[in-house]
Amino acid sequence: MRSKDYVNLGMVGSGMMGRYHSVAYSTIPVMFDTSIRIKKKVIADANEELAREAAERLDFEEWVASWQDLIGRNDVDVVDIVTPNDLHAPIVCAAAAQKKHVICEKPLALNLEQARAMHEAVSRAGVKHCVSFNYQKTPAVLHTKKMIENGKLGRIFHFRGQYLQDTGINPLTPIGWRHQSSRAGSGSLGDTGSHVISLAHFLLGSIREVTAMSETFITRRPVGDSDGEVDVDDAVSFLCQFEKKALGIFEASRFCTGRKNRFSFEINGSEGAVFFDWERSNELLFCNASAATSEQGFTRTVIGPSHPYGGALQRIPGIGMSYVDTVAIMLYEFLQSLFDRGKPHPDFSDGVAVQAVMEAVQRSASNKCWEKVCY
Ligand SMILES: NC(=O)c1ccc[n+]([C@@H]2O[C@H](COP(=O)([O-])OP(=O)(O)OC[C@H]3O[C@@H](n4cnc5c(N)ncnc54)[C@H](O)[C@@H]3O)[C@@H](O)[C@H]2O)c1
Repeated sequence: MRSKDYVNLGMVGSGMMGRYHSVAYSTIPVMFDTSIRIKKKVIADANEELAREAAERLDFEEWVASWQDLIGRNDVDVVDIVTPNDLHAPIVCAAAAQKKHVICEKPLALNLEQARAMHEAVSRAGVKHCVSFNYQKTPAVLHTKKMIENGKLGRIFHFRGQYLQDTGINPLTPIGWRHQSSRAGSGSLGDTGSHVISLAHFLLGSIREVTAMSETFITRRPVGDSDGEVDVDDAVSFLCQFEKKALGIFEASRFCTGRKNRFSFEINGSEGAVFFDWERSNELLFCNASAATSEQGFTRTVIGPSHPYGGALQRIPGIGMSYVDTVAIMLYEFLQSLFDRGKPHPDFSDGVAVQAVMEAVQRSASNKCWEKVCY
């Protein structure tokens, strides 16, 4: 039997993403052909009851209420940060100082300056780092990347990316950390728009300049018997030009009645085009521009065993993969990198680049003019 590569994990945060990451860690030794074994050592949550319950349910050996206690431990190799955005920077910087490898949820930081400081901290410490833009690991997206690299789409003219949800429409939804700039940095821009930007960077390269608009449709929301101010965007749209000259149109909104998780993109090139929508995440539409004109149009490919990671996660053709699988692929690649098998991707340099675009979008929305992205 192959010898095992053990990794001791500490997780900070036991909310929605804490659960998804936990399930993804459990998936890795089961579904991937790997020597990696993850020991879920300790989970931290400021809410003691949640921490206790999460340790039991998610199968961590111990729980603590203070993240400072977690990162100081000798038996933790990797710190996975799944907290609200305002805690990303302090936890990353403290964990890096303790020489822990770090995975941090997106968006990396509240702002560009903070993101750069985080990147500096992990680089100085010489630890491995990953920012959780897990949608990049969707097999259909990885396949699209290969098609672009192999010239299947030719010269790229257009990228059209959207992340549309309806989570903000009910005015009675209480205020939460996602509605406050001090805790989230921005609204739909950082929450879902950051995923679209990261994906565009991955597929098409850097964005040079942007022109944007944003709006907050519901400016006050209930807090107990009173109400509080929403000071982040509910929706943002922007145009951009990529360094390689392609034109981009982006939209992220929490106010799209009828849309649940429509994370979609279309790329139009000289040789072909692709369309993908996360609500149908096991399909990729492709138009081959060299087909006879009478046969041109988008045709449907069902993603399966012959696509990236299909051998591990979709052993039966047509069974489809899930959101958690994208997190598992990302974490698997990160853990492999700890044993010098590949590089973690996306890493904090990608997180900083996305933050730079977000900052240009915010500047443009407030100045009402084109803004260059300052990477
Ligand atoms: N990659 C994705 O697709 C994706 C999707 C949703 C959220 N996210 C990101 O994941 C992160 C967490 O989001 P979520 O939806 O899980 O939030 P959540 O509110 O469900 O969970 C956050 C958890 O952090 C805990 N927490 C708060 N302060 C803490 C502290 N000081 N110490 C320890 N724990 C503390 C809370 O008690 C809660 O359990 C955010 O950065 C968010 O942007 C990413």
